[in-house]
Amino acid sequence: MFNKRIKIKELLTQEPNGQEVIVMGWVRTFRNNQFIALNDGSTNNNLQVVVELGKFDDELLRRITTSASLKVTGIIEPSLGKGQKMDLKAATIEILGDSDAEKYPLQPKKHSLEFLREKAHLRFRTNTFGSVFRVRHALAFAVHKFFNDKGFLYMHTPIITASDAEGAGEMFKVTTLPVDGSATRDDAGKIDFKEDFFGRATNLTVSGQLEGELGATAFGDIYTFGPTFRAENSNTARHLAEFWMIEPEMAFYDLEDNANLAEEFIQYLIKYVIENNKEDLEFLAQRLAEEEKQLPQDKRSEMGLIEKLEFVLANSFERLTYTEAIDILKNSNQNKKKKFQYEVTGWGMDLQSEHERYLVEKHFKKPVILTNYPAAIKSFYMRLDDNCEPGKQTVSAMDILAPGIGEIVGGSQREERLDKLEARMKEMNIPSEEMWWYLDTRRFGTVPHAGFGLGFERMVQFVTGMTNIRDVIAFPRTPGSAEF
Ligand code: 4AD
Ligand code: MG
Repeated sequence: MFNKRIKIKELLTQEPNGQEVIVMGWVRTFRNNQFIALNDGSTNNNLQVVVELGKFDDELLRRITTSASLKVTGIIEPSLGKGQKMDLKAATIEILGDSDAEKYPLQPKKHSLEFLREKAHLRFRTNTFGSVFRVRHALAFAVHKFFNDKGFLYMHTPIITASDAEGAGEMFKVTTLPVDGSATRDDAGKIDFKEDFFGRATNLTVSGQLEGELGATAFGDIYTFGPTFRAENSNTARHLAEFWMIEPEMAFYDLEDNANLAEEFIQYLIKYVIENNKEDLEFLAQRLAEEEKQLPQDKRSEMGLIEKLEFVLANSFERLTYTEAIDILKNSNQNKKKKFQYEVTGWGMDLQSEHERYLVEKHFKKPVILTNYPAAIKSFYMRLDDNCEPGKQTVSAMDILAPGIGEIVGGSQREERLDKLEARMKEMNIPSEEMWWYLDTRRFGTVPHAGFGLGFERMVQFVTGMTNIRDVIAFPRTPGSAEF
């Protein structure tokens, strides 16, 4: 029987009064052959295990090395030392697994995040990643709690699909056909996917939205929360080839309802972590403050991590249209002095992340919801706005931009009018014959509806203050890298 152990997090909430306990965990450090800092992953706080001199044989003590796993029994007493309120006075120590100190890749010192990325299988055993992944867990739990409390249905949309939800062509193919060139080809010389496993070309999903819409037009409110895949060759601190996305989809919602829900959702997630992960947030805030000390003054954040999160809770997001944003950007000194890498040429252009960051970090200094983008730069399913100026057709799209992150949410009201949707699909070369099932929602009881996608890792980045998205997902998949 192993599981009579008490977790260190829980133990540390108790008063030390001679209670007998069993703990298990991994050695962080062993000082003076007397003091073991034991960590079991439930918290960054270690339990100090006191090893009485002469009580255990040297052979055992030699095996208490960094990252060795131990089972320790003993009595909890008030600590005589500074820095902790209790000690575990060891009665028995069992080595569950040795760890060769010469070979163990992590030293009990500060390692760079880049170094730890190469040791991603062990980096959970560091304080930084302990905190990041406990916060990630809390956020995932809060996602489900938020939607469950609102009566949304959690829908599992497929990972293998035949459609390209975003119409951006950034998909990983799924096939069992031989890749050595011997796959059967059709008359035109193209690979014949009729021979493939599914009898057609398939790929990993870029978004669960289209299937989500089928759910929303029956259940009313649904959300998805699953992995999505993009074969975009972006080697940035905000892009992954495999990332998790939360996609709520709501019937009887317009763009404003959609923006309201997204804002409430983001604030809820932040509040949940502030209330439930104080210790980890404080550690991460401290870590970030130290990291920023390396930066020149003008690159440092104006607020600490927790201060920033509290600010986002206390202030409503700035809402403005794309057209208004273009005016601000065009007239900005930054643009006039040609300090943007991409000049703001005017209405119709796609915003680069430097433009988004200018709006959020320099101009408004808070999260921004940008709406009503030009139709030409947005996806086929977005609802065409009525009464647009000639030549300036917009769609009911919204992007939420967060300080330090840029785009964190993308969403829209959907085009519920069959004729308009079909015309737009044609215009954008989206194969509507293959999407008959999607179009059926518009044929049978169509309703105004809307939804959005929150990039989960970007949200984890925002809350933890981690600069690189590779450090908030356990095993990042990025161009050129799929280790572990
Ligand atoms: O803006 P996107 O592409 O929107 C959609 O996929 C819609 N179908 C969502 C919807 O309306 N249901 O992606 C949504 C969010 C982005 O705002 C961003 O936070 C995140 O997903 N995202 C990525 N995160 C990490 N790595 C990538 N390569 C990402 N691409 C998008
Ligand atoms: Mg987007």
